[in-house]
Amino acid sequence: MTNMTIGIEKLSFYVPKHYISLTTMAEHHGIDPAKFSRGIGQDKIAMPSHDEDVVTLAAEAAQPIIDAVGSDDIDTLIFATETGIDHSKAAGIYVHRLLGMNPRCRVVEMKQACYSATAALQMAAGYVARKPSAKVLIIAADVSRYDLDSSGEATQGCGAVAMLVSNDAKILSLDTVSGLFTEDIMDFWRPNYRKTPLVDGKYSALRYLNALAESWTDYQQQGGRDFTSIDRFCYHLPFSRLGVKAHSHLAKLNGAKLDNVQITDGMAYNRVVGNCYTASLYLSLISTLENADQDLTGQAVGLFSYGSGAVAEFFSGVVQEGYQDHLMTTHHQKLLDDRAALSYDAYLNLWHAPDPQNGEAYAPEPAARGRYRLVSIDEHKRHYDTA
Ligand code: COA
Repeated sequence: MTNMTIGIEKLSFYVPKHYISLTTMAEHHGIDPAKFSRGIGQDKIAMPSHDEDVVTLAAEAAQPIIDAVGSDDIDTLIFATETGIDHSKAAGIYVHRLLGMNPRCRVVEMKQACYSATAALQMAAGYVARKPSAKVLIIAADVSRYDLDSSGEATQGCGAVAMLVSNDAKILSLDTVSGLFTEDIMDFWRPNYRKTPLVDGKYSALRYLNALAESWTDYQQQGGRDFTSIDRFCYHLPFSRLGVKAHSHLAKLNGAKLDNVQITDGMAYNRVVGNCYTASLYLSLISTLENADQDLTGQAVGLFSYGSGAVAEFFSGVVQEGYQDHLMTTHHQKLLDDRAALSYDAYLNLWHAPDPQNGEAYAPEPAARGRYRLVSIDEHKRHYDTA
């Protein structure tokens, strides 16, 4: 029987082959590795090679979804990122071509720091309610890069999550209630002329916790679920320790007993990928669904989305019967297992990605493990192709 429930029908992610272990980074900087493994709760940082960017990561993440359902019914592609490659053209148009998608499709890019994929999800759900035959492909893709030798260096990462939103939510139905909060602050931002963000990490974490309380309050006022009737919680995770602090904060606000089992599965993937900005919350959702050792059917999941600057949203959904049949657990675990560690010098080489700005021709060495790669940049045009 068709589900006829609005929400997530398919979920897929992609990470590149290379990572730097935070033990290697700690050794290089002469600090205790426990600061990273326990203090910020991270183990690895995924690094793109020079022939990978948000376009190739996004295409890799979405490919298994297109393989499974085709693109005939997808009339909207929303690309959520804060590491776009062009101020004007939407990165999703390149992805649309690489995936051979139906030309009868609208494509757009959205930005609001780490929050934009959530705006995309809510807009997609609203659109599908209006046009139940439509499916929307959302791709959240980012490369999180901070200055070398800065405190943010340990919280880098990259990755892409693709979600198919439809009226046949095979994985997670979305509740219509959500709690919202916006405030104009400068906790993390990146002016157009900068490659790395400016960030006050400690201030940002405080505003994040305040935004959690504010959006939770609004969620309650809008008629959301009680804290005790939510089984699992997924938080935006720039680093997993912030999720631990967030959950403790929310439990305390509700006078409830803290149960970290509600969040631990949702941190497993993020710990070994690093921050992938707007994809991070949805990587945590996939991590929850794929690492839980019990059947989550019928369980309520609470999701907290935060994008510096700042916009926050607390919303929820319900895990659907038979959801395991629609996960890509084996594929995802293989992507994470089959990776290669970088030395600090090799990491530095990837960090310093060439960035031709005068129209000169540049062709990166083939290094991406996936199907799609940036083949060249010439006359200010980026050329992508299959490997
Ligand atoms: N063993 C265990 N824990 C240790 C440790 C050790 N040897 N050394 C330090 N720690 C703990 C500290 O006590 C601290 O814990 P606390 O947060 O509970 O106080 C934690 O590790 C971090 O140490 P700290 O010295 O405060 O870190 P830092 O100055 O290096 O900065 C971040 C850490 C996360 C603030 C920084 O990496 C950052 O700004 N990242 C960017 C965050 C971001 O992207 N924000 C915006 C989007 S939400």
